[in-house]
Amino acid sequence: MTRTILEVKNITKKIGEKTILNDISFSINEGEILGLLGKNGAGKTTTLKIIVSLVSKTSGAIYINNINTEKQFIESMKHVGGIIENPEMYGYLSGYKNLIHFARMSNCKISKSEIEKVVKLVGLEAAINKKVKTYSLGMKQRLGIAQAIIHKPSLLILDEPTNGLDPQGIYQLRSYLKELTKQGTSILISSHLLSEMQLLCDKLVIIDNGKILKTGSIDELVNASAENVVEFTVNNPSKAKEIIAGLFPVKKINVEEYKVTVKIDSNNIALVNQEFVKNGVIVTGIVTKQNSLEEQFLDLTREVSS
Ligand SMILES: Nc1ncnc2c1ncn2[C@@H]1O[C@H](COP(=O)(O)OP(=O)(O)O)[C@@H](O)[C@H]1O
Ligand SMILES: [Mg+2]
Repeated sequence: MTRTILEVKNITKKIGEKTILNDISFSINEGEILGLLGKNGAGKTTTLKIIVSLVSKTSGAIYINNINTEKQFIESMKHVGGIIENPEMYGYLSGYKNLIHFARMSNCKISKSEIEKVVKLVGLEAAINKKVKTYSLGMKQRLGIAQAIIHKPSLLILDEPTNGLDPQGIYQLRSYLKELTKQGTSILISSHLLSEMQLLCDKLVIIDNGKILKTGSIDELVNASAENVVEFTVNNPSKAKEIIAGLFPVKKINVEEYKVTVKIDSNNIALVNQEFVKNGVIVTGIVTKQNSLEEQFLDLTREVSS
């Protein structure tokens, strides 16, 4: 049977007149990675802070390992690790000494070899004996993650952990988070980047303005959405447009000098290509640009990036 590690039930948060979170519900099973996706100000950090009781909620309930966090706070938090705010670290101590310190604070027996394993996992072997004040942002981030996972939590909560990491660091983070889930750890991670979440998560919760827009597995949300924006590079775009419009009703079609961009079911790309060839339209390129989820999400985030 699958075990539910985290259950977030109907969380609402109001500050004064403002509703920051509106009826947020989702759950995470053992070994699952759930991505909380939303643009800046959507309510990600507030949600994560409420889960670990760093911020109070107006209504709703949180269960970690079936324990109500409000009724049994200490018990429920025993198996949670996370970085939500910048982790506190001692700059004048080495990374290693910081980890030893946190291992002691966590009240769990953690052996030297376990610490070394975690250090290796986050790729800090070379710098672990240097003072933390000499670390780059990415290195501090990785030390923070090492700290969060050192007591082998059953639930790991990470608020936008890839901020400040380079592509290599992001790749490494992804692979060791996946590695952690193999040992049964469940992960709740937030991000404003769909592309990042797509590669890492099993499930997604998309929030905007404190409300859930969509919840589902990556398959349901991303891969199964067959509609794609497809760009055909052709010698005769207006003829190409006619051909496509004659094949099926299309919602969106855009013609440029050598390009036709259209939203179609990806299963129909071959058919379109065939019809082009039959009608003397020469195709020199076919690029699938984005699926509908990406498009929706980009619409949401456009405000931020522009
Ligand atoms: N203490 C607070 N007082 C008033 N508004 C807040 C407070 N904390 C967060 N907010 C507002 O709540 C919304 C969600 O913020 P946050 O959870 O930090 O979003 P995210 O992490 O997705 O960027 C934002 O509009 C933010 O301005
Ligand atoms: Mg945030």
